[in-house]
Amino acid sequence: MVSKLKNINSYFKPILESLSELADKLNVRVYLVGGVVRDLMLGEKIFDLDIVVEADAIDFAHKFADIHKKQFKKHHTFGTATVFFDNHHIDFVTARSEIYSGFGALPRVKPASLKEDLLRRDFTINAMAISLNKSDYGKLLDYYCGEKDLKSGIIRILHDDSFMDDPTRILRAIRFEQRFSFKLEKDTLKLAKKAIGKNAFGLVNPHRLREELILILKEPFPRRYIKRLYELRILSLIDKNIKLNKNDFHIVARIEQAIGFYKASFKRHRQLEEWIIYLMAILHRVESGEAAKFLDTFGFRKGEKIRILSLYGNVDKVKQLNKKVLPHVIYKILNPLSFENIIFFYAYYRGKTIRKRIGIFLDKLISIHLRLKGEDLRRLGFKPPTLYGKLFERLLYAKIDKGFKTFKEEISEAHIIFENCQSKH
Ligand code: CTP
Repeated sequence: MVSKLKNINSYFKPILESLSELADKLNVRVYLVGGVVRDLMLGEKIFDLDIVVEADAIDFAHKFADIHKKQFKKHHTFGTATVFFDNHHIDFVTARSEIYSGFGALPRVKPASLKEDLLRRDFTINAMAISLNKSDYGKLLDYYCGEKDLKSGIIRILHDDSFMDDPTRILRAIRFEQRFSFKLEKDTLKLAKKAIGKNAFGLVNPHRLREELILILKEPFPRRYIKRLYELRILSLIDKNIKLNKNDFHIVARIEQAIGFYKASFKRHRQLEEWIIYLMAILHRVESGEAAKFLDTFGFRKGEKIRILSLYGNVDKVKQLNKKVLPHVIYKILNPLSFENIIFFYAYYRGKTIRKRIGIFLDKLISIHLRLKGEDLRRLGFKPPTLYGKLFERLLYAKIDKGFKTFKEEISEAHIIFENCQSKH
């Protein structure tokens, strides 16, 4: 027997061996399962481990965490727990079968054998296990021809009701199909389309759909994925107001480039939440009230909503950057926006002038700050303090336009502006 674990990296090797030891000591069957088995067989990097225990997984996980003095967390879901190893999660689950009571509803579960546990899963390539017990350590258990499908590059469901039982699997199918450049098997595609036609998405908790949509948008270079969602009419079924057109795909392509430009040129700025920018491309032509409804229904977070919705009020403002404007106007327009918004607009507007100005803002203007503080103004006898807010704003704009550097220059400019403010007051 060729061990499927012989190429496991040096970080996970001792962890798996320790799991093996504990399994034999407690006399329980323990397996590595699901996506991690798929990724190991594809030679992909692995991050987290999924472990199925043919006994009480919580008890097993607890003992394992104690041995390694690692953090342990029991979940509310039937028989599941996580042990945290540095940045890696090890998820433990009791082998279980699932009974679906209604289409799209969450299933009832009961303890079962590994074979039954694998049968409840989404695709053949995700339904393989590797034994961790010493007697057959590293042996592949492949009841549903996952290895064959993996070699032929096929995404295949395990039974005809799979997509109706859990319609989020349609989104997962597309994610794996595009990630690995696989194909949906003929009947699997037919059943996906049939489920879509039966309004399967309308039966699922929108929050679960949101999570899957975000996972798709978080994949590297999600353009192909978005195109596939469009081909299958999935986006407009998730929300009837989403109607992508050819130009939107050009925007998505330019977002990929714009993100590349940001990452290469502005390493000192914070990391982008790239998926939000792609969601902006999907939603930007939806009327703002409808977009707000969509974001609420699907339970997006407040910060995500604010960034996405601020697109609508700023399309025309950012367009002004095409005209001849002073540097402080560039600052005034772009500074209130998130980096995600700015990169969206960089992709949305192809004009050289707008792009150049966004570049200037991110490179220089964004880091211009005043040295002068309120206490300096008080000390210098500026009165009344109610004018300080206006003064600081004008002083910053003057600094941006004139490019002065010293504290002294700020003070003399403050005097000029202040006289001006007072005369108008
Ligand atoms: N699974 C399933 N149906 C779902 C979600 C998950 O059958 N709707 C099963 C699959 O066997 C999957 C495993 O649970 O492999 C773990 O799920 P998850 O961690 O979401 O996906 P991975 O397959 O590990 O893929 P990745 O982490 O690479 O996205």
